[in-house]
Amino acid sequence: MNPADPRTLGEARALVRAFAAGLDPRSRYVAELDELVAAAADLADLERRLLAGCRGLRHAGPDVFAAMTLREKILANLVTPETTLFRFTEGELEALDREILPRLHGRTARVLVVPCSLGDEAFTMAAFLLKRGLAFEIRAFDLQPQLVEIARTGRLTFGYPPEYLAAAGRVSADVLRRIRFEVGDAFNLPLPAPPGMPPLPTAPPKLDASPRPDAAPDASAPRKIPVAPVPAPLVGEGKGGGSPAHAPHASDHAGAQPAEEVSASPCLRGEEGSFDVVLCRNFVGYFVPEKALEVTMKLAARVAPGGVLFLDGFCLLKFPALQPALEKDAFTRQGDRPVFLRKA
Ligand SMILES: C[S@@+](CC[C@H](N)C(=O)[O-])C[C@H]1O[C@@H](n2cnc3c(N)ncnc32)[C@H](O)[C@@H]1O
Repeated sequence: MNPADPRTLGEARALVRAFAAGLDPRSRYVAELDELVAAAADLADLERRLLAGCRGLRHAGPDVFAAMTLREKILANLVTPETTLFRFTEGELEALDREILPRLHGRTARVLVVPCSLGDEAFTMAAFLLKRGLAFEIRAFDLQPQLVEIARTGRLTFGYPPEYLAAAGRVSADVLRRIRFEVGDAFNLPLPAPPGMPPLPTAPPKLDASPRPDAAPDASAPRKIPVAPVPAPLVGEGKGGGSPAHAPHASDHAGAQPAEEVSASPCLRGEEGSFDVVLCRNFVGYFVPEKALEVTMKLAARVAPGGVLFLDGFCLLKFPALQPALEKDAFTRQGDRPVFLRKA
């Protein structure tokens, strides 16, 4: 058993409540998970039910889901790892072509993908920028270590259940070495700095991961996913974020106590400057309005002057306060696209 995992069904219930605290209370994902937990006789039964079929399993794929700790499985049902290739259907790539690429020629473009799930968005962006013949580097992070581990291998499932694929696709080494995948918490991004000031440091998360002396060895301990060797990245000095074996665990994005320290990558702390393109799709819409605004403004603070922030139409419709807050921060929305340009 992972020391951060719940030990009883009551603790599992409490964990769901802690995670759900910052999420939209009308979320059917929360209601579905509540039902699953309510039906479970004990913790082992809950794990069996999750493995028999749930939203997190469908989106992560059975091998990735099975390798998650119970804590991670619970989170994967609340903020799911849903992702697909070439999901940019709201005019984002056209806006890049028109507004951003002309400014980037002659230097290395910097792209930040938050959260990256299994990597499909970062792979899509890499293919697009390679086709355009641009020099670029992509930083991408997600709270879930198992997703990041798979993303680093370059595995593609094309949205098809991996168990029914004869072989998973893989992106080329050319794509992979331009992307640095890391484990990180989007809510650990620094607060925007006042004008003219360096970014404010992020407070280190509190630790709450002392091993439990009473924890019995667990036969259902997560299986390690075999990871293919990956080429050396172009960006940064290593594979990024430490080896998966040392990958830190998810903190509770909803504001509860973190389970273990989440790697505060320099790019998350704002020490690596700003990015020409910051992508955050299918994430902000999960939260309560104040959390949605918090994470949006933290991401906006990472956008370079003349750069662009991609959100999604769903969150902008759901939280009408986001657009004026961004406009106050020197962003202009591009028509009705979920695309915000920062004043150069
Ligand atoms: C629906 S996916 C979106 C992935 C990608 N942006 C896309 O649209 O293809 C949501 C992701 O958010 C991640 N996540 C949840 N809480 C997070 C947090 N606090 N910080 C970073 N990632 C988080 C989940 O692990 C999941 O992979």
